[in-house]
Amino acid sequence: MKRKVISMLMIAAMTASLAACGSTTASTDSDASADAAQTEESGDASASAAGGKIGISMPTQSLERWNRDGAYLDEQFKAAGYETVLTYSDNDSGKQVNDIQNMLADGVDLLIVAAIDGEALNTAMNEAADANIPVIAYDRLILNDAVSYYVSFDNYTVGTLQGQFIVDQLDLDNAGDTTYNIELTAGDPADNNATYFFGGAMDVLTPYIEAGTLNVVSGQTDFDTVATAQWNTDTALERAQNVLSSYYADGTQLDAWLCSNDSTALGVSQAITSDYAGSNTVLITGQDGDEANLRNIVDGIQTMTVYKNVSNESIVTLGLVEAIMSGETIDASLADTFGVECTYDTESYETSEGNKCPSFLLVPNVITKDNLQDLVDTGLYTMGDDGYLSAAN
Ligand code: BGC
Repeated sequence: MKRKVISMLMIAAMTASLAACGSTTASTDSDASADAAQTEESGDASASAAGGKIGISMPTQSLERWNRDGAYLDEQFKAAGYETVLTYSDNDSGKQVNDIQNMLADGVDLLIVAAIDGEALNTAMNEAADANIPVIAYDRLILNDAVSYYVSFDNYTVGTLQGQFIVDQLDLDNAGDTTYNIELTAGDPADNNATYFFGGAMDVLTPYIEAGTLNVVSGQTDFDTVATAQWNTDTALERAQNVLSSYYADGTQLDAWLCSNDSTALGVSQAITSDYAGSNTVLITGQDGDEANLRNIVDGIQTMTVYKNVSNESIVTLGLVEAIMSGETIDASLADTFGVECTYDTESYETSEGNKCPSFLLVPNVITKDNLQDLVDTGLYTMGDDGYLSAAN
């Protein structure tokens, strides 16, 4: 806490020297799928002088949502008069440490970091703390006390929405003696969010598993067994194929597959399409509203996704940064000023044992084929004549 107060004072003091800063915005990523690295001049030196220089460190362009996060953060901070440095680190923690170190050397005034591995950024975080640079953990918590604030969605609720969706769709409360078969796929163990998503879902599903209403035929229920390194689609696909060939090849019916997000749901859906012997529709959950998954929802291959409006996540982040930069008191009342549904939470997340991290948590929503229009209404997606959604550019 003491460190945070000092950081804020430093920020106020540093703002005066920012007029001398250049206005270069660097955006880099060497992902195979990524656009070529680019560096552009923002051309508005007076605006950047008024704001400051913000380092935005994203994990990878190979998972769809981070492209949106990076773009929205970059656009919104620039529009508010900040200079930005945006990097993607190819899902490589060593590269992310390097990228953040470069930002610090480049004189950023504040860091926004979506961690690849919440426990692998200590070197960079300690340097940020030594330089009194505030750090906002963006979407994924970083387990280091240099973090000043956390902006995310209510990650536990994402999981409970997925679990409750399965309960409601299968009408498990009225199942009587019927047993439904289910399998589980969780996220990346290095991502602090993954256990919240899985924990939320399992808190809803476990009573039904214990009552025998749900049966995990593979017996694979613990997080480490069902986790998916780097949220990788092919890894989720391979495990799903193994589960299907080992436990369902004899015609056993599979009713539902809990997937913590869309990149894993994509792999599981592919496995079911190609390797599942049954003819019933398997209920599949997801999270994010990735384009391919929304297509699958239209086609009845995936059943739902938990949508998190990441444009709103960047609006909340910008509001928080403005408050930090101007030395405002940061408390629950700030959450009411963003114009986005969001709660201030000082209890749920810790950067180390006993060190609570003040958090601004946005609200996730369930999307099915019945309310796809809600996504179009955000202005962030368009619906083609074929009924499929594309992210608006
Ligand atoms: C995010 C999810 C995303 C996953 C993989 C998580 O930290 O909260 O929205 O699906 O990372 O990118």
